Amino acid sequence: MEKTKLENWLFGFMFTVIFAASNAWSAQDEKNSPGFAWKDGAEIYAKICAYCHEAQVGPQIRNRDLPAAYIRTVVRNGNRAMPAFRPSEIDDESLVKLADFISNKDAQR
Ligand code: HEC
Repeated sequence: MEKTKLENWLFGFMFTVIFAASNAWSAQDEKNSPGFAWKDGAEIYAKICAYCHEAQVGPQIRNRDLPAAYIRTVVRNGNRAMPAFRPSEIDDESLVKLADFISNKDAQR
């Protein structure tokens, strides 16, 4: 009798742990899926790029008429002291928005 109770408890416990773990996984998946990570280009710039590019660590990149394609290339590949960012950090869709934000003067006022 005592053994059965313990087995029942263990089974319930394992079930709870597995259930909680699978929930944590799916929450993380959602966070990393393209389009979910960032609201818009301004947010990415403020949270990632400004850390260096508004602090004289990197050169000014806003209001310089830099082509969006050039910005995307530098972000993906890096360039000397400029770090490269992978799609898991900034997905393709967000990168397009980011490059448009930086190269579009009107959006920056
Ligand atoms: C860790 C600091 C750092 C972060 C974060 C960073 N950059 Fe840079 N970036 C640099 C530095 C330093 C350079 C100059 C590289 C060199 O010439 O050695 C640079 C250069 C660049 C250039 C080329 C500028 C030119 O004059 O040709 C672009 C474009 C650029 N960064 C875009 C971005 C974008 C977009 C982000 C945000 C996703 C970003 N960077 C985040 C440090 C950073």
